[in-house]
Amino acid sequence: LFAAAASAQSRCSTGCDLALGSYYIWPGTNLTFISQMMAVSIPVILTYNPQITNKDLIYAGTRINLPFSCGCFGGEFLGHVFSFATFPGVNYQVIAQTYYSNLTTVSAMQAYNSYPSYMIPDTGVLLNVTVNCSCGDAAVSKAYGLFITYPVLPGDTLQSVAAAYNLSTDLVSRYNPTANFSSGSGILFIPANVNGAFPSLIHRNGGLPSGAIAGISAAMFIGVLLVAGVLFAVIRRKKRSKSQLLLPEEQLSLPGRRSSQSGCFAESKFSSSQSGAPALTGITVDKAVEFPYEELASATDDFNISHKIGGGGFGSVYYAELRGEKAAIKKMDMQASKEFLAELKVLTHVHHRNLVRLIGYCVEGSLFLVYEYIENGNLSQHLRGSGREPLSWSTRVQIALDSARGLEYIHEHTVPVYVHRDIKPANILIDNKFHAKVADFGLTKLTEVGSNTLPTGRLAGTFGYMPPEYAQYGDVSPKVDVYAFGVVLYELISAKEAIVKSYNSLTDSRGLVALFDEVLSSADPEDNLRRLVDPRLGENYSLESIQKMAKLAETCCEENPAMRPSMRSVVVSLMTLSSTTDDWSISSLKGGNELLNLMSG
Ligand SMILES: Nc1ncnc2c1ncn2[C@@H]1O[C@H](COP(=O)(O)OP(=O)(O)OP(=O)(O)O)[C@@H](O)[C@H]1O
Ligand SMILES: [Mg+2]
Repeated sequence: LFAAAASAQSRCSTGCDLALGSYYIWPGTNLTFISQMMAVSIPVILTYNPQITNKDLIYAGTRINLPFSCGCFGGEFLGHVFSFATFPGVNYQVIAQTYYSNLTTVSAMQAYNSYPSYMIPDTGVLLNVTVNCSCGDAAVSKAYGLFITYPVLPGDTLQSVAAAYNLSTDLVSRYNPTANFSSGSGILFIPANVNGAFPSLIHRNGGLPSGAIAGISAAMFIGVLLVAGVLFAVIRRKKRSKSQLLLPEEQLSLPGRRSSQSGCFAESKFSSSQSGAPALTGITVDKAVEFPYEELASATDDFNISHKIGGGGFGSVYYAELRGEKAAIKKMDMQASKEFLAELKVLTHVHHRNLVRLIGYCVEGSLFLVYEYIENGNLSQHLRGSGREPLSWSTRVQIALDSARGLEYIHEHTVPVYVHRDIKPANILIDNKFHAKVADFGLTKLTEVGSNTLPTGRLAGTFGYMPPEYAQYGDVSPKVDVYAFGVVLYELISAKEAIVKSYNSLTDSRGLVALFDEVLSSADPEDNLRRLVDPRLGENYSLESIQKMAKLAETCCEENPAMRPSMRSVVVSLMTLSSTTDDWSISSLKGGNELLNLMSG
């Protein structure tokens, strides 16, 4: 399948930073739910929908525009892949036709997910939801560079659609040459108007080669989907640069919230991301509730040491029960500035199952950040702490995949995007089901924009995880996280620290990256690698799987940032690895009792 698709004629060469999805509001939905489905915060949704005057009130039967980035997959088609966390009772039809409002189709759901419709796991899996998009077509017109993916609904006609967007029927049909406008189904691409103007093609990066749009009609959408099972085997060739964002970052900050320096704020939907099942409760959303300082203080016995669960570079972390929910309160050793607060507000809207959620915050004296509490400690404790069962190899692969997904999300799907800059096992938290969540994203950015107390120019990050360009020149890009993630992969294999102390000398120490480099380029890499494997794994691992992970880590830790993969392609590799890791367990079951060892390990 891969070969067939890869040799197909190239239909796109690059994607673009922004496309819009036209989301039909169905009865019973609300902006909170839509923001979760489309992985975009409510304030950002509002900037694209000035017609919404009250975010708690959206009208069924209307449409809103939702921004997403538009990637070129394998040169085959332009699209975006959303992740949908399953919950009991969902099926492809309700996901495609209701939750994603026909922006995708049942056949696309089937094509891009390995589960048959009747066997979708109830919880704990992420489904791929593909939505097509367009970046424009110079052959039709250079005047239009931003496009809406518009699902055709019964009752639509060419005339009604063109009139709704104030465009000529001729223009709409030229962008959709093979569409059947009155069929009641399919996708159209419609030039979008933002703040009264149509962004033009020349001001955007990555338009399509001429004529390509013609190939991405509604009918083609399905056809290409079926052929290109390569979606996750290709690297999205997408250029991203801040100057190409259509909206300046200032415009993306939250309107209409309190911004005073005191008072504490929280998202009302305290634990929705944990259940995986978004609540569909009417139209009222996002009532900000306050955490008075007194509430935080009394929940922690005045930040008593008995509540302390950890401490790091920025402050101490305390366990608390707030309003019946478990929370971790991080007391920061710094004052909050205005910019800092603006950033924090945006951060409370970033939701993903592989990210530790910021529930709210409080500014009184110092800054307090209230996070969802993750039950099962951090990865460093699992790898090296005493009194814990060793993690099995398949769990390690799962933890790697989970954290990669969290990172991919902040690199690619949030507005603005974040570089974590402090990826390490202490910032990867493990939940009860041994799923991983990335903690502390956005904080290094906060220290930069908001710290009055930290010396400016201080490099955020931890020794042993910093790539050369960052440690030497302070160059920041998502590849900084990719490097640190590579080090974490080496740690998953070896359970060694990022800086390995030498037995012979107290002063002599070396990086884990150098250690693995040496082994992987040695005359007998297989044997040497085996010697580096965490002894607590015993014999319960597949060397092939370990080799693949080591290879992946090696590319993540390339000296040249341009040679490192994006987190998206790291996710792809780990998905493949995790599927073969399962296969390996199953085959070992057939062969004997190794799986039992694996499971008990
Ligand atoms: N939301 C949370 N739920 C449960 N435990 C947490 C949570 N946040 C942090 N912790 C625990 O508190 C510890 C300390 O966190 P903290 O972020 O202050 O320091 P760190 O992660 O070791 O270093 P850094 O300051 O570089 O992030 C974490 O390692 C983790 O074990
Ligand atoms: Mg931390």
